[in-house]
Amino acid sequence: MNEVKNNTVLSGVQPSGDLHIGNYLGAIKNFVSMQNDYNCFFCIVDLHAITVKQDPNTLINNTLEVAASYIASGINPKKSVIFNQSSVPAHSELAWIFNCVTRMGWLNRMTQFKDKAGKDKENASSGLFIYPNLMAADILIYKATHVPVGNDQKQHLELTRDIAQKFNRDFNCENFFPIPEPIIDKNISRIMSLKDGNQKMSKSDPSEYSRISLLDESDEIIKKIKKAKTADNVMPEKIEKIINLSEVNNLLNIYSGFSGIEKQKLIEQYKGENFANFKSDLSDIIIEKMKPITAEIKKLMQDKSYLLQILLEGKNKANEVAQKTIKDVYDIVGLLRNET
Ligand code: AMP
Ligand code: TRP
Repeated sequence: MNEVKNNTVLSGVQPSGDLHIGNYLGAIKNFVSMQNDYNCFFCIVDLHAITVKQDPNTLINNTLEVAASYIASGINPKKSVIFNQSSVPAHSELAWIFNCVTRMGWLNRMTQFKDKAGKDKENASSGLFIYPNLMAADILIYKATHVPVGNDQKQHLELTRDIAQKFNRDFNCENFFPIPEPIIDKNISRIMSLKDGNQKMSKSDPSEYSRISLLDESDEIIKKIKKAKTADNVMPEKIEKIINLSEVNNLLNIYSGFSGIEKQKLIEQYKGENFANFKSDLSDIIIEKMKPITAEIKKLMQDKSYLLQILLEGKNKANEVAQKTIKDVYDIVGLLRNET
């Protein structure tokens, strides 16, 4: 790419457990494809992870594992900035300013808070409630224009856009923050649990059989796909029928996400057959794509000093950009910066 890159990408993944193929297909795969055309910042959002309880002894390891997963999936640290959120204090500083911009009513509408807090809202951390303000800060501190995410983050992105607009308007600084665009891949933006087609595949699902982890070996992948729910006994003939079969639809999305073959074509190939062949081919394609990535994550996790070096370089590059923005924000808001 010789042309100057005018647009900036930021995205983040929480170090809250082993990543799964939902994270890969819904987010990380898109990160990789964007790095030639955009200035890219890929963050490991450790401050987001601690909005729910984390074990301090595993948090650092999980942080390194997300860095390893980014690199193993094809994010090139020479092209993209890879860093952990807590190493760039300006994220938290801007988040505080946004706490004072965002209206309570906006946060009250966030469905992820409702899902994560569950029935016992009184006992949820206040960090979990204001989490979308920190996410907006992650994005806007780099003046990111594009944000590749899974579908579950759509509402948070809309809030980020509202915050950017309100800040620009309240402080009379039109165009200071760009209004970032979400990049959401239609079919693979919500990979569902292998056990329940109505639940999102998630790191926190207690059942290992609900997800395929990026660390799973081939035999585990085969076993999990074999056990995956399909509901019907043969592949329907028409795509319209699939829509109501959420588990089958999900497996087709996964197949299509890994192979690049359109769903319609897959249905034609397997229609009228029971799911044994389909599942065996699906395991093969997942293994083909994931095996080198899994091996590379495991290899990188043996070389922590390399990962720490990448994160240090990323921290320095990210701080350089972030500090400039926060200084401008302090000036705009009227906060005294008594600097020489
Ligand atoms: P998280 O694991 O919540 O930090 O999510 C990291 C990224 O992966 C975000 O962009 C999410 O939208 C995306 N993501 C998480 N779970 C899924 C899923 N089941 N399907 C598709 N994308 C997902
Ligand atoms: N909230 C996102 C999630 O749970 C993670 C995240 C934090 C993020 N900051 C971000 C995603 C900024 C994109 C951009 O998946």
